[in-house]
Amino acid sequence: MAVSQPTILVTGGAGYIGSHVVKTLQRQGYGVLVLDNLVYGHRDVVENVLQADLVVGDICDRALLDRIFAIHDIAAVMHFAAYAYVGESIKDPVKYYRNNVTGTVNLLEAMVDADVKNLVFSSTCATYGVPSTVPITETLPQQPINPYGASKLMVERILADFDHAYDLKSVCFRYFNAAGADPDGQLGEDHTPETHLIPLVLQTALGSRESISIFGTDYPTADGTCIRDYIHVMDLAQAHILGIKHLLQGGQSEAFNLGNGNGFSVRQVIETAKQVTEKPIHVIEAERRPGDPPVLVGSHEKAKTLLGWRPQFSDLKEILSHAWVWHQKRHGVICPPVATEMTGGQRCPSSQVLVGR
Ligand SMILES: NC(=O)c1ccc[n+]([C@@H]2O[C@H](COP(=O)([O-])OP(=O)(O)OC[C@H]3O[C@@H](n4cnc5c(N)ncnc54)[C@H](O)[C@@H]3O)[C@@H](O)[C@H]2O)c1
Repeated sequence: MAVSQPTILVTGGAGYIGSHVVKTLQRQGYGVLVLDNLVYGHRDVVENVLQADLVVGDICDRALLDRIFAIHDIAAVMHFAAYAYVGESIKDPVKYYRNNVTGTVNLLEAMVDADVKNLVFSSTCATYGVPSTVPITETLPQQPINPYGASKLMVERILADFDHAYDLKSVCFRYFNAAGADPDGQLGEDHTPETHLIPLVLQTALGSRESISIFGTDYPTADGTCIRDYIHVMDLAQAHILGIKHLLQGGQSEAFNLGNGNGFSVRQVIETAKQVTEKPIHVIEAERRPGDPPVLVGSHEKAKTLLGWRPQFSDLKEILSHAWVWHQKRHGVICPPVATEMTGGQRCPSSQVLVGR
């Protein structure tokens, strides 16, 4: 792939969102170097599917970071590497503060020393905690209710201090629920363990799970189930391109919500998944879980206005269709015709590369 744009260091580029961003960067002519310790990432995706340069290593390894910045001409960093299991963060906060906060400080220090002063950071709507109003705007108070959200908010505050003291500029993207998959069917969501609703629903449709649980059916929403904001991973990827352009053109540090702007209830997701997959999905109605707000929907007006970002895949059916193609391939099932984006004689990609990862 011809490289006409600067090189971006992508930490966590072997993970779900990072890998989709790497593909988008490559398509738009950027050089890419992935740094991932592969604790949760997938080597074959970076090496075989994306054919990107991969350094297997940890953001906590300062000597490695210094070598990377010395050898490669890095213009900016996109920082996805983190642990992101809310429940685990409550049981083992040290793991989260060490990786997400200490690891990031290590990275930022190495950047400053190497005079690399532009960073796009993966923050989260979990920094808002339980919002007083929806849609959530960037100016609402950030009051996280778990160590995962707190670790991300700490980094946001550290970034503000690094801007003030060392002129390191950053774009913090507060993602809502990343969802969907690469419309080409090459990449998708593959977490182990999986905790996100859409992959769990699709795994149930595939028969690799017996049922999907709805936690709480008595919320003050139209159908009684929680409403969340699902943002297509390719829309997130495009926002990252705009974020890096903003910084490389000398833009100021900013924080943006990245959401669909529309919420979908748990029941809506399950019903739409039944239509897309044409499979039965067994549902168990369970008690509410503590700490689940009824509605989490973000306002994305700031990203629209300042970055010119427009989500292209806001339709829930399309999000689920892309994810469904991926999940079938992941489980070795021949792709059915829901792969609406596969055109130009493109065939459903072989499952061989991915099965058994
Ligand atoms: N998935 C979502 O819906 C969502 C929502 C909000 C925020 N985020 C944030 O976005 C980022 C990416 O999320 P994802 O869903 O792609 O997660 P992921 O687990 O698929 O990807 C994270 C990657 O980082 C790597 N990594 C972790 N710690 C590392 C370290 N110390 N050194 C090097 N590599 C390391 C992992 O191996 C993995 O490949 C995370 O920072 C997460 O907190 C995700």
